[in-house]
Amino acid sequence: MTTLYSEPAPDAAGDVPVRRISFTINGEKKTAEVEPRLLLAHLIRYGLRLTGTHTGCDTTNCGACTVLLDGKAVKSCTMLAVQTDGHDIQTVEGLATASELHPLQEGFREEHGLQCGFCTPGMMMAAKALLDRTPDPTEEDVRWALSGNLCRCTGYQNIVKSVLWAAAKLRSQATE
Ligand code: FES
Ligand code: FES
Repeated sequence: MTTLYSEPAPDAAGDVPVRRISFTINGEKKTAEVEPRLLLAHLIRYGLRLTGTHTGCDTTNCGACTVLLDGKAVKSCTMLAVQTDGHDIQTVEGLATASELHPLQEGFREEHGLQCGFCTPGMMMAAKALLDRTPDPTEEDVRWALSGNLCRCTGYQNIVKSVLWAAAKLRSQATE
């Protein structure tokens, strides 16, 4: 069971076996009551209806469920929702602004970094974690950062080019 409230949340009901958690997601504060066994991926997709975060394997292999937790890339199928209590989550929906794509999204468009697109949100979030800490990555850095993300369409070459395109654009924005 997942119950999501806009702030402030009402008092917890009696002995219902749920735990109340508060977290920030894409800049918005949320409070939820969740079963302790609920996976973070399921809170994001079914509780919050942020369906950009995909689940491809549920076993930590594919990376389609990658989100950022306090800026670090994590596989949300392998975390419990309760572990996010007091933390900051970013999903692919948080990349673009109302009027502009994020450079990573532009890069994937410019360099044809997606085919079916299933792996793309996870690739972008893993890449964002890299670019946030390493603004001028080598190709090897990019390949290493994305090594936990699988693309069943095997579009790796263009995915790497997309991330390098985004890195260059972010660097040029930083010097404007
Ligand atoms: S769904 Fe999480 S790693 Fe595949
Ligand atoms: S673009 Fe299809 S799985 Fe990567």
